[in-house]
Amino acid sequence: MKTTVVYYSMSGNTKMTAEKIADKLSAALTEIRPVKEYPSKGFRKFIWGGKSAVMGEKPELEPYGFDTDCELIILGSPVWASNIAPPLRTFISENGEALKNKRIAVFLCYSGGGADKALSKLKAALGTEGFEAQLALIDPKDRPSHDNDRMISEFCGKLSGDA
Ligand SMILES: Cc1cc2nc3c(=O)[nH]c(=O)nc-3n(C[C@H](O)[C@H](O)[C@H](O)COP(=O)(O)O)c2cc1C
Repeated sequence: MKTTVVYYSMSGNTKMTAEKIADKLSAALTEIRPVKEYPSKGFRKFIWGGKSAVMGEKPELEPYGFDTDCELIILGSPVWASNIAPPLRTFISENGEALKNKRIAVFLCYSGGGADKALSKLKAALGTEGFEAQLALIDPKDRPSHDNDRMISEFCGKLSGDA
């Protein structure tokens, strides 16, 4: 099945997960990045990123390739202020038509709280009741664990029909 993993990552946790998922499912990878990068160091990143997420901003993205013909789209984002990261919000808004009537799965990386709220906000942004599969991992790059790898495998198995 033609599959694309679309993700935003500031510090590599979502990126690492996206790469593992894409590898297991032989999927294409689309990384999205804002034209104006958020500060990624110190407390400023929480202030600017958090504010942008709370405001539901849709920052302009660098050009990205996205195969609108794919059958399954897997969206990945870090949790920011119990919300999805703003670049993913832009992607959803720019690809509303392409996302309609597609199989959609999601994964989130977070450091311990707010993933459920972020999932609800993602559902609202997509106008969907649920996902084919969903996964939330706690800082998988910074805190590697066998549990994370098992959850990634289960997530992929569910999507490929192996689980
Ligand atoms: C602006 C900002 C807001 C964040 N808000 C939350 C949050 O509400 N809940 C949480 O558990 N982690 C929060 N985090 C932590 C990240 O979600 C977490 O470290 C994630 O794994 C980072 O993914 P990345 O490395 O792909 O950027 C926040 C991080 C940033 C930069």
